[in-house]
Amino acid sequence: MKVYMDNSATTRMLSEVVEAMQPHFTEKYGNPSSLHYMGIEAERAVDESRAKLAECINAEPYEIIFTGSATEANNLAIVGACHAGRKKIITSEIEHSSVGKVIRNMERRGFETVFIGVDEEGFVDLKELEKKVDGNTALVSIIHANHEIGTIQNLEAIGKMCKEKEVLFHSDASQSFTKVPIDVKKFGVDLLTLNSHKIHGPKGVGALYVRKEVKLEKQVHGGMQERNWRAGTENVAGMVGFAKAAEIGVREMKRNVAKMQKLRNALVEGLLRIENAQLNGPESDDKRLCNIANITFNYVEGEALLMRLSEQGICVSTGSACSSKSLQPSHVLKALGLKHEQAHGSLRFSLSKFNSSEEVNYVIKMVEKEVAELRKLSAYAPGKKAGYYEEREQAFE
Ligand SMILES: Cc1ncc(COP(=O)(O)O)c(C=O)c1O
Repeated sequence: MKVYMDNSATTRMLSEVVEAMQPHFTEKYGNPSSLHYMGIEAERAVDESRAKLAECINAEPYEIIFTGSATEANNLAIVGACHAGRKKIITSEIEHSSVGKVIRNMERRGFETVFIGVDEEGFVDLKELEKKVDGNTALVSIIHANHEIGTIQNLEAIGKMCKEKEVLFHSDASQSFTKVPIDVKKFGVDLLTLNSHKIHGPKGVGALYVRKEVKLEKQVHGGMQERNWRAGTENVAGMVGFAKAAEIGVREMKRNVAKMQKLRNALVEGLLRIENAQLNGPESDDKRLCNIANITFNYVEGEALLMRLSEQGICVSTGSACSSKSLQPSHVLKALGLKHEQAHGSLRFSLSKFNSSEEVNYVIKMVEKEVAELRKLSAYAPGKKAGYYEEREQAFE
């Protein structure tokens, strides 16, 4: 059986999305900047896509900038917003690297940076956050729903606080879009990142919502595309596909979320029957994404388990997709307070509307089997070499 449960890394494109994109490769391939009828046709496709995407998050079409990825949107939001005098950026310890690393890089440009800690479920300490926001703060950037553990932050509360303190607020909604209703006005965000390929759209396209009053410094210079916000010939097919995926995802959200939640809960229940397994992130359904289950299997190496599951036809992941080839333990799990070994023994199962209960049962069975076999081989499983595990823990502390 082949089971894909790595939908937080990327998703299968919907056939409706492929169909909508197709003519823009073969017949309607004009450049939106061209003045002839093919250019006008392409420009119209871009405008319609922008309007559709804007509608999905209660924004105006002119507040959407298409980018080449969510990573680029995060870079544009952070670097573009921090240009006018203020020298402090505040974020959390559990951001995706496309936010965290950009902010670290801003330190080299003379910015003061603050990384706010989280509790054991991954919630940002709002009191601590409020204390740190001051008159020198240029930007607060807090991820909407975490890509590894699914924790959904209270954006409304953060947005309200930022507004009162007159500080710009950015959120990366790459993982939450089409799984949690997004209303930029209700959330009080000034900037918001969207990702296409996490919602059954194409790769190579992302978007940034920029509230109309926000002054952003352009990062990619050249032509006048994206109303002079981002130079470079538009990925018309990508934009059309992204908008189509968004439209379908928002329309079907209620039904898909209910399905994924049910499957995910059955998966978690089954996996937690395995001895020495624990769930990472919040337990309550309204506080976490419907499709993510992050589980630590103590006394097992996550990478070894992942590879064995892959041999059984199952695709899951250790850290987020971008860091899964690194042997560094996940910074998100470490921020929750997990020990080095525990972070290393964790897997992320991320579902989509295409998964089934047969697949869930198969995954539970295979994980049970492979965990048992790996523990038999493990030198530091309980009852093997007394004290070894504890010694290793100390060594890493
Ligand atoms: C929360 C979050 N933000 C940003 C990104 C970056 O997306 P992309 O690689 O499409 O630029 C990802 C992808 O894993 C993500 O999960």
